[in-house]
Amino acid sequence: MNALSPPVSDSIHLRSIVIGCLAALAGLMSGLDIGVISGALDFVARDFHASTLAQEWIVSAMMAGAAVGALLAGWMSHHLGRKRSLVIGAAIFMAGSLGCAFAWSTPSIIAGRVVMGLAIGIAAFTAPLYLSEIANERVRGAMISTYQLMITVGIFMAFVSDTLFSYSGNWRWMFGVAAIPAGLFLIGVLFLPYSPRWLMMKGRRQEALEVLRTLRASPQDASREIRDISAQLQQKQHGFALLRRSRNFRRSILLGILLQIMQQLAGINVVMYYAPKIFALAGYVGPAQLWCTAIVGLVNMLATFVAVGLVDRWGRKPILYTGFVVMTFGMGALGLIIDRGVASQTTQILSVFLLLVYITGFAMSAGPLIWVLCSEVQPLTGRDLGIAISTLTNWLSNMAVGATFLTLLQTLGNGPTFWLFAGFNALFIVLTWLFVPETKGMSLEAIEHRLMAGVRLRDIGR
Ligand code: BGC
Repeated sequence: MNALSPPVSDSIHLRSIVIGCLAALAGLMSGLDIGVISGALDFVARDFHASTLAQEWIVSAMMAGAAVGALLAGWMSHHLGRKRSLVIGAAIFMAGSLGCAFAWSTPSIIAGRVVMGLAIGIAAFTAPLYLSEIANERVRGAMISTYQLMITVGIFMAFVSDTLFSYSGNWRWMFGVAAIPAGLFLIGVLFLPYSPRWLMMKGRRQEALEVLRTLRASPQDASREIRDISAQLQQKQHGFALLRRSRNFRRSILLGILLQIMQQLAGINVVMYYAPKIFALAGYVGPAQLWCTAIVGLVNMLATFVAVGLVDRWGRKPILYTGFVVMTFGMGALGLIIDRGVASQTTQILSVFLLLVYITGFAMSAGPLIWVLCSEVQPLTGRDLGIAISTLTNWLSNMAVGATFLTLLQTLGNGPTFWLFAGFNALFIVLTWLFVPETKGMSLEAIEHRLMAGVRLRDIGR
């Protein structure tokens, strides 16, 4: 090697950073998409004279699209490959954000939201998959959590950009700016290598080896990994057959479904999509509603860092218990204040504080942890199907919450709607105790062994 050229490990390091940045952009895109609607909704509703029901659909159309996108992504990432799926996802994302930006009626913006959702469904499935296949073992965990973190960064950025554009009331720009990271992502992805694992699945061993040589510290490491992938691929996915045959697998599928329903009925997306409306109930008007929402986004992001730091030290269950207790308190007390009517500035400030308490509870616990648990509890040969089903459940229950919140406020009343969510969170403390295993420090093989031996779900961990 020439003395002036960077050592091999430096260029590999650089390449990993570039890949990490692209992963980050994928998370950012998803976050922007989740966050943008909260600030835009009132302006869109005003321009298009959208009824409550229509507003709920403008919000939820995205989740419907994401559910379809997640299903499509499974097929696409297998047949077209991870890289091409990401390219398609980014292009659809641009189309969706521009579609919303140029919408002319309620049905057209609903269509734009479905398209945006399709893109998120594809990105949220494919990006973590691609990353886990390309990242070096030592940084694999960090890459996946970076992705989660960046979703919350994206949500925060969307809240801030909504706030800034709210002064002019220009909701079209709120949607339109999301096309910029999507464009960057699209360009970046074109330069990414194919996933070595996917190349191996397609029998392109030599190409897989070449890719790995550019990503691993030594040719020996690359060859060793090729052998590992090859051995893993012998373990074919038999999801549907296993589902028919094994009661134990059906139990882990049900656990994945339960976990995702718990995450969504905790009410997080009521806050993500409708925070400005909640702050209006608490007596805030105009830009103040959106600034408070931006603070919610900031706390959501910061508290996610806490979870990432704690998850392997405290363990899953203590964190989940803490989170659900905090969320029960936050939602319950907020309901109390809103029910009594916000009379003074002190109660106004208190309502922001309580929503922040709630968000902290979620972001430090159920937010990232449910995803971790869902990927840990499925047996190897059914993992793809298991994760696909739990991810689909996430989007569908997300949609159910988004599509009913405003109607709940109108039918149950403001306070009782928040108490309903507080009640769900209280119930989830019990369900965590009854059904959720502690998987901290356990190998996936050990968890699988206990699951398939018929051990009670809550005991399949340590
Ligand atoms: C949830 C999303 C939510 C986000 C908020 C994720 O873990 O799955 O539905 O919008 O957290 O940060």
